[in-house]
Amino acid sequence: MSTDKTSWLPDAKRNGEKVAVLTCYDYPTARLLDEAGVRLLLVGDSLGMVVLGYEDTTRVTLADMVHHTRAVARGVAVTGQATVVADLPYKTYDTPEEAVTSARALVAAGAHAVKLEGGRKFLPQIEAILRAGIPFVGHLGMLPQSVKEEGGYKIKGRAEEEAAALEADAAALAGAGASAIVLELVVPAVAERITQAIRVPTIGIGSGEACDGQVLVLHDYVGLFPWFRPKFVKPDPEADLGPALREAAKRFVLRTTGYFPS
Ligand code: KIV
Repeated sequence: MSTDKTSWLPDAKRNGEKVAVLTCYDYPTARLLDEAGVRLLLVGDSLGMVVLGYEDTTRVTLADMVHHTRAVARGVAVTGQATVVADLPYKTYDTPEEAVTSARALVAAGAHAVKLEGGRKFLPQIEAILRAGIPFVGHLGMLPQSVKEEGGYKIKGRAEEEAAALEADAAALAGAGASAIVLELVVPAVAERITQAIRVPTIGIGSGEACDGQVLVLHDYVGLFPWFRPKFVKPDPEADLGPALREAAKRFVLRTTGYFPS
C-alpha cells in the first residue's frame, strides 16, 4: 500500500475530478476543513501575512512553518482524511542538502508533502526531495517569496517567452515527479495549455477556471483579513468572518462593561 498521501492527485486528474485546496494554519481550522471535505490543506507561508502580520512571506522561518504544520497535523489526525502540504519558506532550500533537511523537518511535523516556489532552476533541490522519499508540489507563476526582487505581485505569462518558460518549467516539474503544481497569477490561456500538457493536477490561484483545481488563502475567502483581499478572490457570500468577529467582540465588551465600543 502506498504511503504517499498525495497519490490520489494524478488519479483525480485522470478521472476529471476537480481539486479544492484551502490554506490552513491551526488545529481547529484543520478539523473544520477536514470535516468539510477539503481533501488538500496547504500550510502556506502566506501565514506570514494573514496570521503573523508581516508585509510579505519572506520573513517566515522554518520554525514558524514547523509550529503551524504541527497544529494542522494534529487537527487532521482526528479523521486522518486530508492531505497536508507545507511550504518550504524563503531561503530554506538554497541547496539540495538544505532543501532535504528543511523538507524533513516539515515531514517530521506532520506534512505529507512539501512545496517550494520555482521552476527548472530548482530541479536539483526538487529531485533531492523526491529521492529522499518526500512527495513534492510545485509552485510556478507569480512567486510571492520573490516579491522584493520582482518589485510587486505581477501576472505571469503575458510575453510569449515567459509563457514558454512556464510551460517548460511545468513539464520539468511534472516529469521529475511532482504530485501537483500550483499556478499563481498565470495568464488563464497559458494555465490552460499547461493543464492540458501535464498529467498531474494544476491548482490555480488567480489563473482562470481551466486549472484542475483551485486554491485560496482561507482568510481571503472567508473575510478574516478584511483590510486587504486580492482582486481575483471571489469571497464566500455568507462567511464574512472578520466583521462578524469584530461585532461579536463588541457585544462581549457591551455585556461586560455596559458600554458599546465606538
Ligand atoms: O502560501 C500560500 O498560501 C500559497 C498559496 C497562495 C498557493 O502558496
